[in-house]
Amino acid sequence: MPVMEIKNLTKDYGHGRGVFDVSFDVEKGEVFGFLGPNGAGKTTTIRHIMGFSRPQQGYTYVNQRDSWSNYYINQKELGYLPGEIALPESLTGTQFIKMMAELRCITDSTHTDYLIGKFKLDPSGGLKRMSLGMKRKLAIVTAFMHDPDILVLDEPTSGLDPVMQEVFIDFIREEKARGKTILLSSHIFSEVDATCDRIAIIKDGKIVSTVVADDLRHSESKTFKLEFLTKDEFERFRQEVEYPGKLEVVSVKRHRNQAKIQVNDQDINHYFGTISEYQLKFMSEIKFTLEDYFMAFYDRNPQQEGGQNYAAH
Ligand SMILES: Nc1ncnc2c1ncn2[C@@H]1O[C@H](COP(=O)(O)OP(=O)(O)OP(=O)(O)O)[C@@H](O)[C@H]1O
Ligand SMILES: [Mg+2]
Repeated sequence: MPVMEIKNLTKDYGHGRGVFDVSFDVEKGEVFGFLGPNGAGKTTTIRHIMGFSRPQQGYTYVNQRDSWSNYYINQKELGYLPGEIALPESLTGTQFIKMMAELRCITDSTHTDYLIGKFKLDPSGGLKRMSLGMKRKLAIVTAFMHDPDILVLDEPTSGLDPVMQEVFIDFIREEKARGKTILLSSHIFSEVDATCDRIAIIKDGKIVSTVVADDLRHSESKTFKLEFLTKDEFERFRQEVEYPGKLEVVSVKRHRNQAKIQVNDQDINHYFGTISEYQLKFMSEIKFTLEDYFMAFYDRNPQQEGGQNYAAH
């Protein structure tokens, strides 16, 4: 049974805005990444999961309960980090934490103190004067302070400095090891790469891809960039590999005597045997990253499906 179930969720704000027929599941113990360009529909989907907004069609379930009709139960059981943080400006951070603890009936502050220490938060100042990063840290502490099993995090690290982003990644891994189920929307590929088991990509309100992160990480082919010492060597190579063989030429730059070659892992010895017959100026491997895969979807051209041939460059 999935912990979060989003089924045919539709909210049409008009003019092509909103979310349309969005479906995905988040399983127990999974860190699920939710990616997409600005305005794609991440926050809209998340607000439905939290029960803040009523679907026009479809539904979202958390723990087999409809989000909209179980709003109050979900508020207690979930940890939520909003994308846009609105805090009562008249309070200090300490007062805000105390208020949240009382609302959640937390009497033992051990876990809260651990989080404050982990994220190096000084909550003593007024919320009005807190920097974006400080507010984000405060929101992280209050999202996790009741130690919920399910977390819904909307761009949790935006505004955090790189050191704190690393602390956050480390923390998410710890929470995953403790069995937490986490939905995490993000624009930061390295963060998603470092934490997520599966990833859904949303574009123009529709899910365009759902991938198992390990499938992308363990691509079964490699891409090499070669530059030949002379034009003759380059042309000789091209003629040889034009015959059906085990090397796939992805692209060539004739004027530079350069070629990009894609090789299946099992053909790697054949590849090195072949290129050892040529005089090369240099060779380098082009590493495929999750970012390469995602960037294809970030292309604004609606005609382009993107991301299909993720091994190509
Ligand atoms: N309450 C609303 N009324 C009308 N349009 C809305 C409303 N909320 C969101 N939208 C529109 O729906 C689309 C999706 O917005 P959403 O905030 O879900 O995007 P997002 O993926 O979270 O983007 P970002 O990465 O910028 O946070 C946008 O075009 C937005 O303008
Ligand atoms: Mg958003």
